[in-house]
Amino acid sequence: MATQNNWGRHTFFMCVLFLMAAAAIAMSAIVLHRMLNDDDSDDSPTSAGTGRPVSGAEVGNPPTTPTRSTPLPDSRQGAVVDCLPRNLREPRQDVTRGECERRQCIWRIAANSRAPKCVFPDTVGYKFQTGNTNHLKISRTGPEEVYGMRVHPEVDVTVEDYGDNALRIYFRPSKTQPFEIPEEALKINRPAPATDKQYRVEVVKTPTFGIKVTRNSTGSVVFDSSLPGLTFSDQFLQISTRLPTDNVYGFGEHNHRRYRHDMNWKTWTIFTRDMAPVDEWNLYGAHPVYMNLEKKGKANMVFLKNSNAMEVTLQPSPYPAITYRTIGGVLDFYVFLGENPNHALQQYIHAIGHPAMPPYWTLGFHLLRWGYETLDRMKIIHERNVNAGIPFDAQWGDIDYMYKKFDYTVDKSTFKELPEFVDQVHKEGKKFVVIVDCGIGSRDDLYSEAKNNSAGYRMYEDGLEMDVFVKNSSGQVLVGKVWPEESVFPDFTNIENATKFWKKWIQYFNDTERVHIDGLWIDMNEPANFVQGSVTGCPDNHWNHPPFIPQIFEGDRDSGSLYYKTLCMDGVQHWGSHYDVHSLYGHSESIVTYNALVELNPNKRPFVMTRSSFAGTSKYAFKWLGDNGSQWRQLHWSIVGMLEFQLFGFPLIGADICGFWAQAQYEMCLRWYQLGTFYPFARNHNIYKNDGVEYARDQDPTAWNSTFTDIVRRYIRIRYKFLPYMYSQFKEAHIEATMVLRSLMFEFPEDENTWSIDRQFMFGPSLLISPALDEGQTEVTAYFPKGRWFDYYEGEETRSSDGRFVTIPTPLSFLPFHARGGSIIPYQNVANSTQYSRLNPMGLWCALDESYSASGSLYVDDGESIDSYTTGKYLELKFELKEGEHLTISVVHQGYTPPGNLSFTVIEFSGLPGVPTSLSIDGRPIEARHIQLKHKIVQLVDIKLDITKNHTVNWMVYK
Ligand code: NOJ
Repeated sequence: MATQNNWGRHTFFMCVLFLMAAAAIAMSAIVLHRMLNDDDSDDSPTSAGTGRPVSGAEVGNPPTTPTRSTPLPDSRQGAVVDCLPRNLREPRQDVTRGECERRQCIWRIAANSRAPKCVFPDTVGYKFQTGNTNHLKISRTGPEEVYGMRVHPEVDVTVEDYGDNALRIYFRPSKTQPFEIPEEALKINRPAPATDKQYRVEVVKTPTFGIKVTRNSTGSVVFDSSLPGLTFSDQFLQISTRLPTDNVYGFGEHNHRRYRHDMNWKTWTIFTRDMAPVDEWNLYGAHPVYMNLEKKGKANMVFLKNSNAMEVTLQPSPYPAITYRTIGGVLDFYVFLGENPNHALQQYIHAIGHPAMPPYWTLGFHLLRWGYETLDRMKIIHERNVNAGIPFDAQWGDIDYMYKKFDYTVDKSTFKELPEFVDQVHKEGKKFVVIVDCGIGSRDDLYSEAKNNSAGYRMYEDGLEMDVFVKNSSGQVLVGKVWPEESVFPDFTNIENATKFWKKWIQYFNDTERVHIDGLWIDMNEPANFVQGSVTGCPDNHWNHPPFIPQIFEGDRDSGSLYYKTLCMDGVQHWGSHYDVHSLYGHSESIVTYNALVELNPNKRPFVMTRSSFAGTSKYAFKWLGDNGSQWRQLHWSIVGMLEFQLFGFPLIGADICGFWAQAQYEMCLRWYQLGTFYPFARNHNIYKNDGVEYARDQDPTAWNSTFTDIVRRYIRIRYKFLPYMYSQFKEAHIEATMVLRSLMFEFPEDENTWSIDRQFMFGPSLLISPALDEGQTEVTAYFPKGRWFDYYEGEETRSSDGRFVTIPTPLSFLPFHARGGSIIPYQNVANSTQYSRLNPMGLWCALDESYSASGSLYVDDGESIDSYTTGKYLELKFELKEGEHLTISVVHQGYTPPGNLSFTVIEFSGLPGVPTSLSIDGRPIEARHIQLKHKIVQLVDIKLDITKNHTVNWMVYK
């Protein structure tokens, strides 16, 4: 008791001290907050919910302005729209009652300190003019100017059915021709016309115009834009939509610290940028799409097809809503209504294009670091991993291999024998991938040196002759600075021309530099630039300094620059001005790189790994999460990032295992390798030098002691064991447009407990992963949704009658994961690369559900041909276990015979109703010696079932 009192006094004293200190430092702390904060739950006073710190003067305007100490209840009901959003063009913008009223808006203080203080009245927006639900015209009501620009007086609205479950809602000013994303960049696939529409559309006319979409079966309003503030001008477009619930997932690319969004007036900016995923800024990719989970497990997805810099502000319950502010283009929404999350996702992915099927080897483990510095060092690390028996499939080369960072050159002093080494890597059954950057070196002296280093090299001149580079607004080639110092940037949006150029230099690398690569890693393609806009700066015009700038990182530099660390926005590209197509740069480079590789090797599945992406990029390239830190919190964030990229249609995604920058530590790195077992893309990579000074330590599987290596090897081997199952999931994602990595919400949308779980995840429908993610963590509290779950190691069952949390010990060498009852999971014996493991005997793990049934499938192709599925060159098996006594293995498609006479040599059972007897395979009885018990797992061993044939396995159990 005494202790508690002391503790209470102590706590009180500490709190007082803390509050005093906090008051003193609050303002400066708030300023630092966005840079440093690790916690998502900040409730600092902010300007109009925008995250901008406010001063006392701003919130305490005498005499009639309410103060924060006497908040007025918000008399307005429903969602509101901020009339004074932060504009980075005006860093010192006032959020005062005077300013609010000058804009003809309503000043109010809501109880929620993050909520906007100045909101639009219902009268500001557009009103219905003429037309019907499918084609209508609306006209402006309210101020005719916004941020000094004319507001378009008339806007055409088109509503089109996209089959039974989807629709397009398209707003376009009647008298101007704004930028639109060309079909060459993204063609939205349209499903068959509706025959049984699952929704109805209404035009809301009062008090504010809007389009309202209601789901017929539940009455949920999935989209409703009848909120004030609708605005169309050339460089500022705003729309707000109500949501049926506050379960929102997606929007990217950001470092979200939770999968289910914090709706409390958070603003997220979308504009591709070279930015480490540390804080909450806009990152490498642009994905203006979200999933909303409705009631009864239904879900919708909404995609805004717009590539301009934009921000979205989320508004909390009880009136959840989203406000979009974009600075160009049109408002082109696609709304997909799903019977469940998977159904919503499938429609979105079908619309933007299905993800490419990865080559089989890319599912193996990948070894890389920046800072090998020399081929000798690369070889040492490579060989020590080979010698330690670490399975891995690819060695990667970062910019170290290049001559002074010139693309498609090999440094003849430090990496002279790279071609021979790459050939040796191939002999080991492994692959080699190299990085290329989009900044092509153009500095005279360095370029001459590069030409001396690499005979026949003339990439810059060639590009000039082919007129392939991005120009500035005066028509000259735009020069920036990247790794090779002064650099120029191919205009990849000129697809045909850029493909010729890119292909030629890939070919040069292969033929003249003699490096026979297996894939290209396209980096820095946001595009990144080490100077602002260009070496000569950027002209002061409405592209480079638009009247409104969303809350992009450093957007307020130089009194509002979008071009901070990228190209001038008035740069000229084939698809449009850089202002409009900036966020499509990596996307266009992915298309060109894919095309070039296909032209060079028409039958081979290209492997392209990109850092920047847009909706639809996954048809061409795969993705990783960029320059994460070697920090504990990044383990959790990587799960959130990977789950989000599944929503964006990128099944092959992963984070750098053990973190990119900062020094990795032993325990963290071990836990990360465990987590990486189930990353769709598993690569160990890190930075050269931290802060450009301290050499970053190695963090490959052999980088610490033998215990470390043993544990890492064990988990990489587990990954390799399950690759047949994993690969089959990628085929599902490629063909059926589903997810490889799944949140528990995705699989169990009606179970409310799953909605915010993002420290566990599922690989496909059958494996539940519950990793330890924190320092010193000795146990995890894992959630098991309703059903039977079987631990991998001993087959121990966790039965969950209605969903339950279970605490599992997690010693440092242990990653908990479970098979879901009802699954049949194929696996294969491990080898040190997939070239060999694919020839090994296979097995099945049957985990039975409550009715003693289970099912599963296996997809096998040659792992590298471009259209294996569409050309029918694959083998597909279905597995079905019934009544706890009969297993059938059926070949459902026989278009490929894998080498190695593959057979199932083991079948394992978890959750049988009793010990099996009287076993027979294909009608022939088998002896009892074939049955073993390993912990709680019943094993059928020493058998041989050809995987290209049908089989039946029958037994009896005494229940
Ligand atoms: C940035 C990339 O994100 C990183 O992975 C790479 O190592 C460096 N560029 C150097 O090429």
